[in-house]
Amino acid sequence: MRRRPDEIAKMRKAGRVVAEMLATTSAAVRPGVRTAQLDRVAREVIERRGATSNFLNYHGYPAVICTSPNNVIVHGIPGDYILAEGDIVSIDCGAVIEGYHGDAAVTVPVGDIPPLTEKLLRVTEESLSAGIGQLVEGNRLHDVGYAVQTVAEGAGFSVVRGYTGHAIGTRMHEEPSVPNYWPGKPGPALRTGMVFAVEPMVNLGGPETIQMEDGWTVVTADGSLSAHFEHTIAITDNGPEVLTLP
Ligand code: MF3
Ligand code: CO
Repeated sequence: MRRRPDEIAKMRKAGRVVAEMLATTSAAVRPGVRTAQLDRVAREVIERRGATSNFLNYHGYPAVICTSPNNVIVHGIPGDYILAEGDIVSIDCGAVIEGYHGDAAVTVPVGDIPPLTEKLLRVTEESLSAGIGQLVEGNRLHDVGYAVQTVAEGAGFSVVRGYTGHAIGTRMHEEPSVPNYWPGKPGPALRTGMVFAVEPMVNLGGPETIQMEDGWTVVTADGSLSAHFEHTIAITDNGPEVLTLP
């Protein structure tokens, strides 16, 4: 779907709120903090900016962010888990302004982390940048996933298959989905005005996933660490515009 400039302007506003949620929650990350505290910090930003949450009550989801430590890939529910030195934690934030959605995530270190864990974070963020760089008219959607996969697997890591990015606009999850790998057949042509949430999930070990009994939390099957970075990006005449920036 192609969005008009006035629609993209609203998504830019939502994206700024999401960026502020990511900044304030990331700044609150330190050893000893409960993930529930990060959700409270994010709720304050949503309220202060007059936004609404697209995560809260989504299929019954109970929080405004997802917090996914260590071997949790995505959709961890904020709660009593206490962050410890050496952990990593993915923080996934979303907000709605005037009916338009933003969605973004970062994975941050808790205190000092080992060099290989640092590499996992750096490579995952680089794979997102590589994917974003493909969001230009004339390319096709599979160019995004192919670029993500090339960076992540080139560094010796694996890319999750069971979960993908997505188009986004007046709903958080719109068609088509955005795989982080070569999908086996060519994707749709990219046009100016299309908006996508690109969100590589990269594992230190294998790509297999397990869904926990809470119905949300997704973990690596082999218990290895997983990182997740996400931005909402519009395709413009001047190339990709990341909407989820301050
Ligand atoms: N931000 C997630 C995504 O990119 C959605 C979170 S699921 C929710 O798809 F239930 F928390 F909303
Ligand atoms: Co998303």
